[in-house]
Amino acid sequence: MKVLLTGGTGFVGQAIVARLQAAGHATRVLARRPTSPRSQALASRFAVDLAAGDVLEPPSLGPALAGVDAVIHLVGIISEAGRNTFDNAHRVATENLVRAAETAGVRRYVHMSALGTRPNAVSRYHQTKWMAEEFVRASPLAWTIFRPSLIYGPGDHFVNLFARLSRWSPVLPIFGTGRARLQPVAVEAVAIAFVRALSEPQAVGQTYDLCGPTSLTFEEVLDTILASLGRRRMKLRLPMRLMRVPAALLEFLMPRLLGRAPPLNRDQLAMLAEDNVGNPQPAQHLFDLPVESFRAGLDRLGSLGPRPAT
Ligand SMILES: NC(=O)c1ccc[n+]([C@@H]2O[C@H](COP(=O)([O-])OP(=O)(O)OC[C@H]3O[C@@H](n4cnc5c(N)ncnc54)[C@H](OP(=O)(O)O)[C@@H]3O)[C@@H](O)[C@H]2O)c1
Repeated sequence: MKVLLTGGTGFVGQAIVARLQAAGHATRVLARRPTSPRSQALASRFAVDLAAGDVLEPPSLGPALAGVDAVIHLVGIISEAGRNTFDNAHRVATENLVRAAETAGVRRYVHMSALGTRPNAVSRYHQTKWMAEEFVRASPLAWTIFRPSLIYGPGDHFVNLFARLSRWSPVLPIFGTGRARLQPVAVEAVAIAFVRALSEPQAVGQTYDLCGPTSLTFEEVLDTILASLGRRRMKLRLPMRLMRVPAALLEFLMPRLLGRAPPLNRDQLAMLAEDNVGNPQPAQHLFDLPVESFRAGLDRLGSLGPRPAT
């Protein structure tokens, strides 16, 4: 199959590119910055074809979709900057891509959403992911939607952050009570699910949770990371109400002063305050996904580390 992937330069995207190549699919990656070091590293590591384009620029999507059988849409953000707002990156981007895929006669469409996505969600992240899902469900494309919990693996944004922090800091922060539950899933399992879905007729018109077998509180996630690294650190509980102030400041200052998304925002705090757990079994059974506890996954990966292609 000829597959167009959006978000291919990101953490999850790189794992999916590797899996697409291993399965023998011809892969085209939509890149808004095809000459960036990340895009170039991806193109030199994998035999991918880079198509210049941006999901927020509809005219760029037609040429990228020419001759494509299937689309995997991963673009998403956890923090806003400039025109990359949650509404643009999730809802508008999906609407543009789905419309262009319909026009191009694409046969299969696999969509990245997130666990916790629902109408009236507390975070803008989940609200806009929900709007994107609803648009996909209403389209005539042969779609499948995946909703992962926290994804971990080489180059991830969460485990690596705390692993790095624990290298030099005697204290690790816990936001709020630390009792909200997560169900971390390995990026390899996520990549297998996306690629197998392309040729699985039973997955058409279905929405699947992607989560690991172990449900852990935020504090237990940190404890597991530390145990896997063989480190002991103190933990400092930071009340959510207190953290909203620096988060709001970062949201205001970083995009304006540095043109970058802030590392922490109030939307993330809202998400960290609620459980993010689901039912792993339907996807595990249909796609024959590997079942591995968070601790076993971390031990297998060693100390995680940077993205493979950078
Ligand atoms: N990581 C997790 O734990 C997790 C959990 C659940 C769901 N998800 C979802 O999985 C997807 C991928 O996440 P990730 O962790 O791999 O994120 P990531 O590493 O930040 O990658 C994001 C990707 O999206 C691209 N992108 C962002 N804005 C774009 C735009 N306006 N136009 C075109 N491309 C754009 C980036 O391209 P550039 O290289 O050009 O920046 C990059 O390739 C997201 O939809 C996210 O919501 C992630």
